[in-house]
Amino acid sequence: MIEIVAISGSLRAASTNSALLAALAANAPADCRVQLYDGLGRLPIFNSDDEGERTPPEAARLIETITRADGVIVSCPEYAHGVPGGMKNALDWLVSRDAAVGKPAMLVHASPRSLYARAALSEIMRTMSFAMYEETLEIALLGKKPAEMEAILTDPANRRAMRGAIEAFSGFIRSQ
Ligand SMILES: Cc1cc2nc3c(=O)[nH]c(=O)nc-3n(C[C@H](O)[C@H](O)[C@H](O)COP(=O)(O)O)c2cc1C
Repeated sequence: MIEIVAISGSLRAASTNSALLAALAANAPADCRVQLYDGLGRLPIFNSDDEGERTPPEAARLIETITRADGVIVSCPEYAHGVPGGMKNALDWLVSRDAAVGKPAMLVHASPRSLYARAALSEIMRTMSFAMYEETLEIALLGKKPAEMEAILTDPANRRAMRGAIEAFSGFIRSQ
């Protein structure tokens, strides 16, 4: 069983990025489990004085979650042409650890116009030594309400695309 952790960069209850990841989890092939990380909003602001023995419990949980996972999928909004602080903060807790080193990672996108954030996130994660899978999946949910998102995410063509994306990413994970 391939275990994948999915991280949404948005804390909004009606987040399009979180909805995309939940749909990916629901459409994963039988040999793959996608679990959503839910601790982003509880992480303290990164402080390198609080590493090692002083690592806060929620940061330790994140590090452990990423360490145990076979791969990571990130879906993240763009704020002011950048990566939202909460997402960057989570990544900062992983910088000086081994958790990210060589860990297969894939970006998926819920907004067709988040081009600055995509580029920044790729650069950050590559710098952290994640093994970036170059293919991505984009399902445009920008501005959609929950009922509209539901219709898009249950569309058979989109379900096939999501399943195909996870299958391809798990192939990449197995090849690492
Ligand atoms: C503070 C803030 C800044 C934003 N800045 C941008 C931006 O620079 N470029 C962009 O394409 N969208 C921007 N947006 C729109 C969000 O990226 C968009 O609403 C996205 O769908 C939010 O993701 P979510 O539904 O998962 O919360 C911004 C939204 C907020 C709240």
